[in-house]
Amino acid sequence: PHPGWRAYADTVVVGSGVAGITAALAARQAGSVLLVTKARLQDGSTRWAQGGIAAALGVGDTTEAHLQDTLVAGAGICDEDAVRILVTEGPAAVRRLIALGAEFDKTAEGDIALGREGGHLVHRIAHAGGDATGKEISRALIAALEHTIGEIEVIDHALVLDLLKDEHGGAAGVTLHVMGEGARDGVGAVHAKAVVLATGGMGQVFDATTNPSVATGDGVAMALRAGATVADLEFVQFHPTVMWLGGAARGQQPLISEAVRGEGAHLVDGDGVRFMVGQHPLAELAPRDVVAKGIMRRMAETGEPHMWLDARTGVAEFSDELWRTRFPTIRESCLKHGIDPAKDLIPVAPAQHFASGGLRTDIWGRTSIPRLYACGEAACTGVHGANRLASNSLLEGLVFAERIGADLGKRLPWTETPVPVEAPEDVVDVLLEPSVMAEVQHTMTAGAGVLRSAESLDRTTDELERLAERGAEAPHLEAWEATNLHLLASALVKGASLRNETRGSHWREDFPESADRWLVRLATRLDPGTGK
Ligand code: SIN
Repeated sequence: PHPGWRAYADTVVVGSGVAGITAALAARQAGSVLLVTKARLQDGSTRWAQGGIAAALGVGDTTEAHLQDTLVAGAGICDEDAVRILVTEGPAAVRRLIALGAEFDKTAEGDIALGREGGHLVHRIAHAGGDATGKEISRALIAALEHTIGEIEVIDHALVLDLLKDEHGGAAGVTLHVMGEGARDGVGAVHAKAVVLATGGMGQVFDATTNPSVATGDGVAMALRAGATVADLEFVQFHPTVMWLGGAARGQQPLISEAVRGEGAHLVDGDGVRFMVGQHPLAELAPRDVVAKGIMRRMAETGEPHMWLDARTGVAEFSDELWRTRFPTIRESCLKHGIDPAKDLIPVAPAQHFASGGLRTDIWGRTSIPRLYACGEAACTGVHGANRLASNSLLEGLVFAERIGADLGKRLPWTETPVPVEAPEDVVDVLLEPSVMAEVQHTMTAGAGVLRSAESLDRTTDELERLAERGAEAPHLEAWEATNLHLLASALVKGASLRNETRGSHWREDFPESADRWLVRLATRLDPGTGK
């Protein structure tokens, strides 16, 4: 669509979670910054993060130990250089966040209180407000952003549509659809020397997810359409303990943080058997994929639609008091569903939680398209490999967004403003109708969810191809979202079909073992001309 208005900045950042705001603050060293967000600043996934942020901050912990736990969880696919950067730059990044105003929970001695989660051999997770870490980080970053009055312009309620490119194929800005008022309503273009995508995850590809409704992978889909390389899309992390609200539940579901298991909660079946004991030396605190599989297996064996989390008074140190102080958010959400966690078992089942893959970047956040950067869940820096270690994602957002700021600071002052070549084609032809979204979710959950096989993935591919025929009649925002989800689902299924093995969060029933020949990262890109 033809832009009805135009704006200009040296850097345009898309997304306002931990990665987006950190990138915007860091990009100031390179010139003017414009930040675009899909809804309100606080509406992304960051504020929903419960457990916390992992970093080697505790006495006796080391960056080497954090590195090892991350590599073990990543099941052979992590990029070790990127992990080393994450764990060594992580502690200072967390301290800078504290200096910016984020308040983490403290011990009686005044040190940062550290919790434990799956896959971590030590207590390493800094948290805030008990279990409201993301909310506090989001609050502190938005306050810092608002403090930069006049330095960073914000456009909210803006869906990013397409990447603008110059004649050499480098990023030159983005087009947006703004649901606003006044001069910047409708479709517009932001011209920039560099574009940073921090648009978060794509949880809405599945029926049930812990991600908010805005998580439709818009930035990743846009960059994929523009020819950027994506990687590791088959590694979708399913969180083991999401509150089970019935088989028909759709959209965002309440998370029960791993930190609850970190405090000693048990996973039990309908007969009260602790089925994770004996499956892994860490039992309930095994890496996330192991626990998710353990739950799914037990559900299949018993025919029950969910398992139970037992954190009632008497289990470990649990009590009404502990629930109120350490997990007030989760307690509230349980009470809302008629469950008093100090007295009742919590029904739980795995649900989509995190996209370990995304836009492939180098250690400076650079994608395969010149001057297009990505960070946070939208990126594949290589730190997560086949299965992200719990609480490494807020850290990844912080560390790599700061690195993007540093790279922009070195390059942008010497970069001329690119002149965009605007695409002549009519996008209405390629947009899918909004109802495709629900069907993508349904088919992906049935065929490309926790359990996958060649047969289920072939069925999903056929179904996605059938859905690709359903063109939209008008370029509604929901049509863009449906199109983005469809594109990402198709790329995800392609990776999952190719990877004939089970590794990390990718579980193939027909190839239950890991194979050394698959110790490779699967990357793909589309030809922007043909879309194939
Ligand atoms: C949780 O609190 O269990 C989520 C932590 C994470 O996803 O890293």
